[in-house]
Amino acid sequence: MSELAERGARRLEWAREHMPVLAAIREDLKRSGILKGVRIGMALHTEAKTGVLALSLREAGARVRLASCNPLSTDDSVAAALQEVHGLDVYARKWQTTKEYYESLHKVLDLEPDLVIDDGADLMLLLHTKRAELLDGVQGGNEETTTGVIRLRAMAKEGKLRVPVIDVNDAEMKHLFDNRYGTGQSTFDGIMTATNLLVAGKAFVVAGYGWCGRGIAARAKGLGARVIITEIDPVRALEATMDGFEVLPMAKAARLADFIVSATGCKDVVTAKHFPLLKDGVVLANAGHFDNEISKADLDQVAKARRRVREFVDEYVLPGGKRAHLLAEGRLVNLAAGQGHPVEIMDMSFSIQAACAGHLARTAKGLTPGVYPVPETIDDRVARLKLKALRIQVDRLTPTQRAYLESWSEGT
Ligand SMILES: NC(=O)c1ccc[n+]([C@@H]2O[C@H](COP(=O)([O-])OP(=O)(O)OC[C@H]3O[C@@H](n4cnc5c(N)ncnc54)[C@H](O)[C@@H]3O)[C@@H](O)[C@H]2O)c1
Repeated sequence: MSELAERGARRLEWAREHMPVLAAIREDLKRSGILKGVRIGMALHTEAKTGVLALSLREAGARVRLASCNPLSTDDSVAAALQEVHGLDVYARKWQTTKEYYESLHKVLDLEPDLVIDDGADLMLLLHTKRAELLDGVQGGNEETTTGVIRLRAMAKEGKLRVPVIDVNDAEMKHLFDNRYGTGQSTFDGIMTATNLLVAGKAFVVAGYGWCGRGIAARAKGLGARVIITEIDPVRALEATMDGFEVLPMAKAARLADFIVSATGCKDVVTAKHFPLLKDGVVLANAGHFDNEISKADLDQVAKARRRVREFVDEYVLPGGKRAHLLAEGRLVNLAAGQGHPVEIMDMSFSIQAACAGHLARTAKGLTPGVYPVPETIDDRVARLKLKALRIQVDRLTPTQRAYLESWSEGT
């Protein structure tokens, strides 16, 4: 076994040990036999927690192929361990070019999958465009993230989506914890690994006060930063205000920022029009799905010089001499420069994924194309398993209380 694979094997072992909820779902799936012989094509960030999910699905009887859903998010040691130690078909490597990235997605589709597990919808898009000949064989899919769900809903609206897809992102046991606490913590893992800079006392701008933005802002505040939010949604802007944050348009926030982190799922959040406003030495990072939130294209066009000053830090010298530091080429900073979400968080998200794969295998043939919510029973089971793992007990309704909550006759 190579040294790299040995390191990856230990990481997989550590992650698996800390994923008790997924262990229980894995046993459910094995007992039911529902995934036996099912071919599953996966495009997820290829790191330890994803490895545990892929191996769990295989243990439940599925045939699995895995590629990454981002050219920079692969942990090469884990990819090596999955291949060398576990004999899994993995097509992923860190620092892939866009061409290599799509070649890997093609390899996953060469499996002629029955089910697709995707993060960001690139695999689904490829399936619906260049590999549409495979669509008849695909029973359905799961989508992991906000951006992927947005794209799939847009496809469905135009009548272009040809398979049923489960919106894993909007399960309560996913976005409440993964997007908020997972992104909240791991964004700082990425920023700190990349920069080794202090956050306390700095002006920290978070673009977008959605699930991810709320988590990032809360952690930035906890680290002692002065947190500023930019938003386009009036309700979210008010929420940020009442959570105690300053809300400003980017054109004003950019002047103050020591750090700008985008988490909007939108594009062109920081562009050339903001560059003249930036302070010298500002750190720019993105936690949203795609690398178009902070315009790298504008930086490349406008900058007088560029050099890599640390592994994940590109220094751009702007006209006038000020420097901006872009982390991880503007890709998901928590996965590219950090280790992704904490394992206990992914235990919940990937339990939802695994349970939904089983649910799809059972029900997909009866579903028309469209985006479907995660069944409440799955959310509830994963929540109860997590509570059990944490040894937290909760009250149960008495029959009288249940009847009261379901009735309308009792009042003043
Ligand atoms: N880094 C990770 O590990 C990770 C984890 C989960 C989700 N994501 C990705 O992060 C992004 C955000 O996800 P979310 O679940 O927080 O979504 P969300 O919809 O809950 O929040 C996005 C917020 O951004 C705001 N927004 C949109 N355009 C904006 C703009 N131009 N300027 C300022 N604010 C703007 C929206 O009003 C909304 O409040 C998505 O791309 C999602 O796929 C990343």
